[in-house]
Amino acid sequence: MKNNADALIFHTTICVEAPQIVLMHRAKTATLLFARASSAALRNGEKMAVSIAIDGPAGAGKSTIAKLLAAKMNYIYVDTGAMYRAMAVYFTQNHVNPDDEREINAAVSNVDITIEYMDGVQQVILNGDNVTGLLRTEETGKMASKTSKYAAVRSKLVDLQRKLAKTTDVIMDGRDIGTTVLPDAFVKIYLTASTQARAKRRFDELTQKGEQCNLEEIAADIESRDYADMHREISPLKQAEDAILVDTSDM
Ligand code: DC
Repeated sequence: MKNNADALIFHTTICVEAPQIVLMHRAKTATLLFARASSAALRNGEKMAVSIAIDGPAGAGKSTIAKLLAAKMNYIYVDTGAMYRAMAVYFTQNHVNPDDEREINAAVSNVDITIEYMDGVQQVILNGDNVTGLLRTEETGKMASKTSKYAAVRSKLVDLQRKLAKTTDVIMDGRDIGTTVLPDAFVKIYLTASTQARAKRRFDELTQKGEQCNLEEIAADIESRDYADMHREISPLKQAEDAILVDTSDM
């Protein structure tokens, strides 16, 4: 963090938005934040960008807490899932077979993804087009899940994520931020929740939008995505050793 005041805002925000986090992790969080705060702002006399990593499975609440924190701390929120989804949009639009790694590798070299911010909200630009509005569909989610296992896809997006974090204070969420993308992140949080709690949240969200859905099917879908994310060969989803574990099932 830039200074101890920033660390204090982070700590206070966590207190206000998710008091259980503090109850469960007060000592560890405070020690981490304040011990690192004094040393991280300057390295060799130069100001450093600070990064906060939030990892965990879909529906645990990562983006909700990351957006709140980023707004309060004046950091940039980086949604890395959106980058995998943008890549998936390209594959779908160009009829790339997600089961054929050679096709994927050839396609990746034609993809240019950049990130911009409009009123503080992340916009994903795919080969010059703003595709932000296309990212949150089930079809794109499934394609992203299938294709995020490939080395060519991951290495392109990890490079982009590291570049963003090099120059700007970021709160970045995803699956491999604390373990792979930013192993030296200033604070790492692993946010999780039971399958049932996450399925219920998704069910409520879709029902509120007037969409017909089935709780069991949603839970099964979540389980199969978790399995794919946690068992892929490259950068599987797992808690970094130095991450703070937070279970949001009852929050
Ligand atoms: O968080 P999300 O649902 O938008 O992510 C979409 C897919 O991208 C998800 O199936 C896992 C993958 N992903 C990943 O492999 N690594 C990340 N850092 C972020 C997302």
